[in-house]
Amino acid sequence: MKSLMIQGAKILATGSAVPSSSFSNNEISKVVDTSDAWITTRTGIKERRLLKGVDKSIIDLAVLASKKALDKILMDPSQIDLIILATSSPNDLFGSASKIQYEIGAINAVAFDLTAACSGFVLSLVTASQFLQTGVYRNILIVGADVLSKWVDWSDRGTCILFGDAAGAAILQSCSSIDNSILGFQLNSDGNYSKHLSIAYEHNIVPHSELNLYQGSFKHISMNGKEVYKFAVFQVPLSILKCLNSLNMSVDQVDWLVLHQANERILTAIAEKLSISSNKVIANLHKYGNTSAASIPLALDEAIQDNKISHNDIVVIAGFGAGLTWGTIIIRW
Ligand code: ACO
Repeated sequence: MKSLMIQGAKILATGSAVPSSSFSNNEISKVVDTSDAWITTRTGIKERRLLKGVDKSIIDLAVLASKKALDKILMDPSQIDLIILATSSPNDLFGSASKIQYEIGAINAVAFDLTAACSGFVLSLVTASQFLQTGVYRNILIVGADVLSKWVDWSDRGTCILFGDAAGAAILQSCSSIDNSILGFQLNSDGNYSKHLSIAYEHNIVPHSELNLYQGSFKHISMNGKEVYKFAVFQVPLSILKCLNSLNMSVDQVDWLVLHQANERILTAIAEKLSISSNKVIANLHKYGNTSAASIPLALDEAIQDNKISHNDIVVIAGFGAGLTWGTIIIRW
């Protein structure tokens, strides 16, 4: 891949937000035929947060996460040039990013949504870094946010046990190329497997059938868990290795592995395939479940708050999910 980098890009701050209402495995076992033991053994998840209340939307979580990131560096929102919202559960199909722009007061920012399910945050990071490294923009806010509780079939025990709601944000800034910390990336899609994980649109015939028009609505999440599992464990290590190779780096140089928080078994299998010690794997899915586009920035933000990640650490971030899409980005912190 040809690099057009004329300057560098770095992450200045992160922030995250989760709903206050938690929902444990024991509580979920009153809704569907499951148990804490099954969910814990098969996924590692113990509880998840759910956004409750008719007046609450993804915007509330996204705005809170964004404000926390801005507050950490005392940045005036008017300095933001671009906002990218990675989400698959917007509250407006025309896009929700501009609502964040309005609510945080980023009066000079252009804002758009990016849809790539659980890979959305990685794709947003890559997209933002392109605008920064080519000198187009100086400050960019990216937000990964999803409220999949609104799209889950709460009678399907194969999916409803997995997902939780959250938002995570990061502020990126351009810098000199010597200080560049977004070292490289590797991205992929395979639409042939899209059937394994989707929130599909379903047609209904409209009453005015003389128009020959079809209108409909979106269905619930449908997932072939086994296929998604196999795909993640096979493809994600390859993507990470390709990305490391493109930078002439070895697995031994990796300080932290931040994977999409889908399933503890997936995280363990990927780390084992790469011979990366479990001590280097950031995991918080036991508390939040799979929060889709929010899972990586939420895990990253917690790791930073816990002082795990230090200056100059090599952080390998990999996302995977519906599309199917998957990819890696490597950062020198
Ligand atoms: N409680 C109890 N039993 C259950 C449950 C449940 N919640 N769910 C399924 N079962 C049963 C099944 O019915 C099946 O029973 P059977 O053997 O009698 O037919 C048995 O448990 C095994 O089911 P599997 O689906 O084979 O279970 P598996 O070990 O594959 O675990 C899981 C399922 C957890 C969904 C796993 O496949 C997985 O994590 N897949 C990956 C999902 C993922 O990572 N998605 C990420 C992308 S998300 C995004 O992009 C939005």
